[in-house]
Amino acid sequence: GVRTSGADGADAANTFLLTGIGELTTNVAADGDPCGTIRDAVVFVRDGRIAWTGRATDAPDAVASGVDPGVRVVDAGGRAVIPGFVDSHTHLVFGGDRAEEFAARMAGERYAAGGIRTTVAATRAATDDDLRTRLAALVAECRSQGTTTLEVKTGYGLDVETEARLARLAAEVTDEVTFLGAHVVAPDHVGSAEEYVDLVVGEMLRAVVSHVRWIDAFCEEGAFTAGQCRRVLEAGRAAGLGIRVHGNQLGYGEGVRLAVDLGAAAVDHCTFLSDDDVAALAGSDTVATLLPGVEFSTRQPYPDARRLLDAGVTVALASDCNPGSSFTSSLPLMIALAVREMGMTPAEAVWAATAGGARALRRTDVGVIAPGARADLVLLDAPSRVHLAYRPGVPLVRHVWKDGEELR
Ligand code: NIG
Ligand code: FE
Repeated sequence: GVRTSGADGADAANTFLLTGIGELTTNVAADGDPCGTIRDAVVFVRDGRIAWTGRATDAPDAVASGVDPGVRVVDAGGRAVIPGFVDSHTHLVFGGDRAEEFAARMAGERYAAGGIRTTVAATRAATDDDLRTRLAALVAECRSQGTTTLEVKTGYGLDVETEARLARLAAEVTDEVTFLGAHVVAPDHVGSAEEYVDLVVGEMLRAVVSHVRWIDAFCEEGAFTAGQCRRVLEAGRAAGLGIRVHGNQLGYGEGVRLAVDLGAAAVDHCTFLSDDDVAALAGSDTVATLLPGVEFSTRQPYPDARRLLDAGVTVALASDCNPGSSFTSSLPLMIALAVREMGMTPAEAVWAATAGGARALRRTDVGVIAPGARADLVLLDAPSRVHLAYRPGVPLVRHVWKDGEELR
């Protein structure tokens, strides 16, 4: 473990000095380095917030005013420290699993959005306690892999009562809850999509709105048309919610342009993009969130991150953790895939899984290690962040703090 010293109980659990950091990724851009890398660094955490950060040799004077002599010291032993991961896209509340569907796919079946209805049936049948227990286990899994900020979507209820339950349960674990009533047309409304959209923008939205911050819609063949998605997203906006979109996952389509047109915080998947889509993203504040766990688990071609970055688009990486298309909660795996398969550099991928996720959630208090930000930190069992891609599949997350509290 990490060595700590200092006056016993003299200071709060969420106040400490982290020293001996071989490589600190702050994500405060400096000298052409978007990661704001500092070597031989220290971070002073006070009351769960970052109070000071910089080179150890500069620290004594700068930190002295704020540090009392008995402050607890944590020695990173020359290892790398990065901001906690910001997973801006998950579907963590659901019943059952789809291991059989996965096995069938690996034997040659194709992925299709219709599989979502399998999980809808299992979710409707589950009790609140079942769902809460499963959700808590998945959240713990995320935390232990370094995720300190987590978005969670509804979307496996698709009736008023179950969507409201999912929104309420998700709100027990995060402030970043997204209403995804427009995931697919509910099994009870197949063949009458417009009627289902009426329900989503009416009674269902009213039932969830107090628990959620965002609205989302799945704009895709087999899910909803751009026109239907626009109705849903505009209704959400009128109810005070921010907009996110699932788009361009399974083929070319209007999802990206709709998202940009509506000023969405993010459009997620972005696997099949036209030149117009890329240009629209480049001229917007909408983040392109790439979800390589999906391509990994569905044997689809990976999105071209290099093309987006070269065009000046802001890119985030997220897990999309869900029982159908990507049942993994590992941001280190997303980083490795993005580097190996999508043309990103290790620095770009780590930025995208931290600062990029924060942009996608329009948050400035996470994804950076800077004075005033939340003390959400990951200490890697490695000398540099490059190892996250260089050593795929190896558990390098040694220590995690959220709001300055030790989670692992
Ligand atoms: O983001 N794309 C739509 N929804 C999920 C898949 C959900 C499922 O297959 O259960 C996704 O990939
Ligand atoms: Fe998704």
